[in-house]
Amino acid sequence: VHVDPATLEGRLPYRLLTSLVVPRPIAWVSSLSADGTRNLAPHSYFNAISSSPLIVHFTSTGVKDSLRNVRATEEFVINIVSGDLVREMNITSADFPPEEDEFTWAGLEATPSEKVAPERVARAKAAFECRLNRIVSLGNGHMVFGDVVSVYVDDDLVVDGKVSAERLRPVARLGGAEYVEVKEIFEIPRPTWAELRAERERPQD
Ligand SMILES: Cc1cc2nc3c(=O)[nH]c(=O)nc-3n(C[C@H](O)[C@H](O)[C@H](O)COP(=O)(O)O)c2cc1C
Repeated sequence: VHVDPATLEGRLPYRLLTSLVVPRPIAWVSSLSADGTRNLAPHSYFNAISSSPLIVHFTSTGVKDSLRNVRATEEFVINIVSGDLVREMNITSADFPPEEDEFTWAGLEATPSEKVAPERVARAKAAFECRLNRIVSLGNGHMVFGDVVSVYVDDDLVVDGKVSAERLRPVARLGGAEYVEVKEIFEIPRPTWAELRAERERPQD
């Protein structure tokens, strides 16, 4: 079936998009309002943009507290959500009024960041401390680009000098209220063109 997205009504375009762009990593964004109220909310429109220097992005669909805070204070932390934090992450997605502190509501402890004012989720195994680079608005999405000024990695995550996905156990969002937790991991090395050519030219037996 082919669908012209312009003909879809209500929530249908959103549902179609978010059930096909999957799985989406989750940026659990902590920020501070201009008057210092803590805020925490998940954003699954999240990705890496640049590794030199490190730049990441999350997108607010519509104007929400996280976006307002980042506009006002230009700092935020992206906490990574592991399997054991899903319940708390979900609580923080409720439509709290701006004066409510989601850390308190979810029973989460915060711990100071190294270089930015918003604190990180103490139990999160990894976090990116970010300073606002720019906000680009497209359609109903406000893309928030952050320069990463410090990366927190829990010592327990590191195996042979690398971050272990098995230990991080990240959770990603699918369509609707469905999620996936990374458990089954496989490895497949990237081939070079030379290897692929050599394979094609090898005589068949
Ligand atoms: C897993 C998950 C992913 C979400 N992703 C986004 C997103 O990418 N962008 C967005 O604007 N809202 C997203 N939401 C909804 C926000 O978390 C929700 O609107 C929240 O109340 C916003 O909080 P704030 O007003 O404190 O910023 C998501 C919710 C969940 C549970």
